[in-house]
Amino acid sequence: MPQTTDPDEFEQIVDDSLPCPEVGRWAETKHSMVALYATLFASGIKAKWDNRTYIELYAGSGYNRIEGSDRLIAGSPLRVLQLKDRFNNYIFCEKTPALLEAMEIRVARHAPWAKVSHIAGDCNSMVQEICVAIPAASSGYRVLSLCFVDPFDIGIKFETVRVLSTRYIDFLVLLALYMDANRNYSNYIKAESAKVADLLGMPGWRGSWQEFQKNNDDFPEFLAERFAKSMEGLGCLPTPVHTMKMVKDDGNHPLYRLALFSRDKRAYDFWDQVLKYNTKQRNLFNI
Ligand SMILES: C[S@@+](CC[C@H](N)C(=O)[O-])C[C@H]1O[C@@H](n2cnc3c(N)ncnc32)[C@H](O)[C@@H]1O
Repeated sequence: MPQTTDPDEFEQIVDDSLPCPEVGRWAETKHSMVALYATLFASGIKAKWDNRTYIELYAGSGYNRIEGSDRLIAGSPLRVLQLKDRFNNYIFCEKTPALLEAMEIRVARHAPWAKVSHIAGDCNSMVQEICVAIPAASSGYRVLSLCFVDPFDIGIKFETVRVLSTRYIDFLVLLALYMDANRNYSNYIKAESAKVADLLGMPGWRGSWQEFQKNNDDFPEFLAERFAKSMEGLGCLPTPVHTMKMVKDDGNHPLYRLALFSRDKRAYDFWDQVLKYNTKQRNLFNI
């Protein structure tokens, strides 16, 4: 696979008859942002850290097909694998065995040089295995990781992020606030649902939501603010909602927010560049 400094460049993908889930066109926005952040991260920190590890929870199969078309695109793991400034290690966790098997074959095809741990299973259950796959740090060997969390829903448990954050990790998190949380509000508000409590790591979230509603009844905004507060509890810098990129579908309906969380101010400088670049691209292509 040719290496590139341009995070928007990827070699043509051809159908290999392996599983290739359909995605909306807007998945490309997400992939571009993740690839650009990963390239800024990897090139920006390489002098200071001995090891850079890229982790993707919810990794998929490596290839996707754009809904309603024959166009195949590389998923985020392959986009990151092609970057010129390589990571030393890659960890991909995927729940569906057939998708992970396809990923393994594609990674071997496109990036045979890469040191990759493929972890099969639910990332919330496999978090210890993921931690073990991150190279051990020592006083003479500094390890910094970037973890992209890319679920379809709000199924990522804060406890998983907490366990991972015992290592030095920056997190890019897709918060499925509209395509899941808002749509399923009537289910998640029920006393028997633990989904929001698990996402926020906050069993008493319903009381805070009631308080919040005195001024604002925007449930996605409440979740975004509360999730950022929970991340602050892990030592991340404050992350205002307006820095979380809102991604919409073709009909201009909000789907999710993509948010960066780090303990290091420099990470937010990189993220700022990603947000500016993305806005410039959208203006250029009028999307
Ligand atoms: C949005 S797709 C991600 C695709 C990939 N990140 C990309 O952009 O190319 C979400 C993936 O997460 C997988 N998945 C769902 N629940 C999971 C879980 N609890 N742990 C790990 N993977 C999961 C699904 O099978 C699906 O492949």
